[in-house]
Amino acid sequence: MIRFAERTSMMGTEGAFEVLARAKALEREGKEVYHLEIGEPDFDTPENIKKAALDALNKGYTHYTPSTGLFETRQAIANYISRTRGFDVKPEEVIVTAGAKPVIVYSILSLVEKGEEVIYPDPGYPIYNSAARMAEAKLVPLPLLEDKEFKFDLSDLEKRVTNKTRVIVINSPHNPTGGILTLDDFYGIRDIIGNKDIYIVADEIYSRIVYEGEFVSITKVKELRDRTIIIDGFSKTYAMTGWRLGYGVANPDIINMIAKYVTNSYSCPTAFVQIAGIEALEGNQSAVDYMVKEFKERRDIIVKGLNEIKGVSCKLPKGAFYVFPNIKSFGKSSNEIHNYLLNEHGIACLPGTSFGGFGEGYLRFSYATSKENIKKALLKLNEAFSKVR
Ligand SMILES: Cc1ncc(COP(=O)(O)O)c(C=O)c1O
Repeated sequence: MIRFAERTSMMGTEGAFEVLARAKALEREGKEVYHLEIGEPDFDTPENIKKAALDALNKGYTHYTPSTGLFETRQAIANYISRTRGFDVKPEEVIVTAGAKPVIVYSILSLVEKGEEVIYPDPGYPIYNSAARMAEAKLVPLPLLEDKEFKFDLSDLEKRVTNKTRVIVINSPHNPTGGILTLDDFYGIRDIIGNKDIYIVADEIYSRIVYEGEFVSITKVKELRDRTIIIDGFSKTYAMTGWRLGYGVANPDIINMIAKYVTNSYSCPTAFVQIAGIEALEGNQSAVDYMVKEFKERRDIIVKGLNEIKGVSCKLPKGAFYVFPNIKSFGKSSNEIHNYLLNEHGIACLPGTSFGGFGEGYLRFSYATSKENIKKALLKLNEAFSKVR
């Protein structure tokens, strides 16, 4: 047995990748599997973006770039954030990264001292918890409540903020529930944290995938702007999960500290991919509009279908591409139901508990898959749930 360093035990993982591996193994055994587990758009990356990458390759964008990214890409991101968030952002406040994920991990490692507290949504994207554990922080999950459309209660937040709180993570639109936060929630956060030395890590990776109402960034609240690290990226909006391109926007000192982690790990994001990112942000956006319209239609199909299954109830998510149905009436744990669906009916989804303890009693389905697949999976789910013993 290899004796791994103690610190490796702090790292968490992402359930979606584990379930995907299990589902693929079942397929190799000849079983039919309905994939509703992984959170990635099934669309191809838009043609104009692929062409920009090929042109950049041919022009010689095949070398290292600064760890913060190419200046022109930082500039394009600064312009985009200024336009979409409504305040002036400079290139020095931007870091281009290999996906959004490094910004989550490196900002928490940069800011949180051992023993300080990190508040994060539960259920929530598992990397927040994992990054906080790696920082040896005290973990402070903040429950998101189904009867509040999967938002948190401000009184729950207030109870959790202490003199040791260092980071509050928010994620809107939210994975795994599709909930979105409003300006009132952000004013509530401002009032609760006052002038404490607390940073907000605002994961806005689903900012363009909103169906009802408008996306609002916490940076709309001026007093919180200087203390916020915005996280966004290209994976979800432009169907570019495999390209590994994301970014963070924050105070230049924080950007440079994150860049130090980048220098010490993957050095810089891929040069020609960064050029393609400029085309994504500044080129024709019709592919994004098309994908969002399609996701909305799929959402309506899956929510209606789930609510027609006896014992299942599902809220209508306002953004992202996940549903988080309540399955408490079956009297079994999320994990038991998840295993039963995968092993006996070939339906791959995630147990709510992959996103934290408050996810017990729920499942997460990703509807970033074709309508045909969703409809077939719903028929299968209907049959499967009628047989739960
Ligand atoms: C909430 C959230 N943040 C960040 C990410 C990571 O995105 P990226 O592919 O840009 O690293 C994901 C991916 O599933 C996500 O759901």
